Amino acid sequence: MAMTFHQIHRHFVAEVSGPDLTRPQNAEEITAIRDAIDEFAVLVFHDQPLTDAQQIAFTRQFGPIENSAGGHIAKAHERRLGPEMNDVSNLGMDEKPLRRDDRKRMFNLGNRLWHSDSSFRAIPARYSLLSGRRVARSGGNTEFADMRAAYDALDAATKAEIEDLVCEHSLMYSRGSLGFDDFTPEEKILFRPVRQRLVRTHPATGRKSLYLSSHIGAIVGWPVPEARTFIRDLTEHATQADFVYVHRWRTNDLVMWDNRQTMHRVRRFDESEMRDMRRTTVAGDAPTAEQVEAA
Ligand code: OGA
Ligand code: MN
Repeated sequence: MAMTFHQIHRHFVAEVSGPDLTRPQNAEEITAIRDAIDEFAVLVFHDQPLTDAQQIAFTRQFGPIENSAGGHIAKAHERRLGPEMNDVSNLGMDEKPLRRDDRKRMFNLGNRLWHSDSSFRAIPARYSLLSGRRVARSGGNTEFADMRAAYDALDAATKAEIEDLVCEHSLMYSRGSLGFDDFTPEEKILFRPVRQRLVRTHPATGRKSLYLSSHIGAIVGWPVPEARTFIRDLTEHATQADFVYVHRWRTNDLVMWDNRQTMHRVRRFDESEMRDMRRTTVAGDAPTAEQVEAA
């Protein structure tokens, strides 16, 4: 089926019409989607009522799926979805909204901070695909920021200063900044910091982008407070309205984004309602920086 891409933001984001993602796509269609996500960084598909198996099958056409292990605090018996799915809903095993003080809920509140998925992994994620199975009636928008446009708008001196900087990312930094810091000894090992370049170059387009994330807690070689204030300044710059697209969910939207070129966050909503959002993630293929051995 013919596929069309319609850009809906000044810098990025296209709406895709044509495909039925419940069925396998042919090779040309996959190439067209790959080329489009290189260019637009975020793709919006409407009216895609996917099962988990269909979402996994569509995702696999772009590469191996990242295992969700290591990215959350839920124990096996507390997981509503399989290992290839990331549960970003507000629901527990009983399919009801989590209690206000539920540890999983408090941990997931970290998604309200600007981030790039799995930047806390040594090999960070390539694409994320988020399916809105049941969306909030009001609020619960997901916002995306174009990190290429943000990079391009920096002055030459800042570009030169950050070119080779390396940051440390950890889930403990993003959660810690919200006052969530009671990690178990096992979680402290699982979430130990990894290193990422602050400037990335997209392998297909050659465009540079700022690789920011609330998971950043340090810049290698910098005093911590200086690093954190600088990262805050860069984040403020990178998330100004001009670089941001606000996605207002309709039921059965599938939004696919390139974590190498964007950040995102979810906004507040009425959590007495069910918001059932399910993410699959295409694994990255290489680290962005050399890692140091864990002590
Ligand atoms: C994610 C995420 C935001 C949302 O799926 O990676 O951050 O809208 N979700 O729930
Ligand atoms: Mn996310």
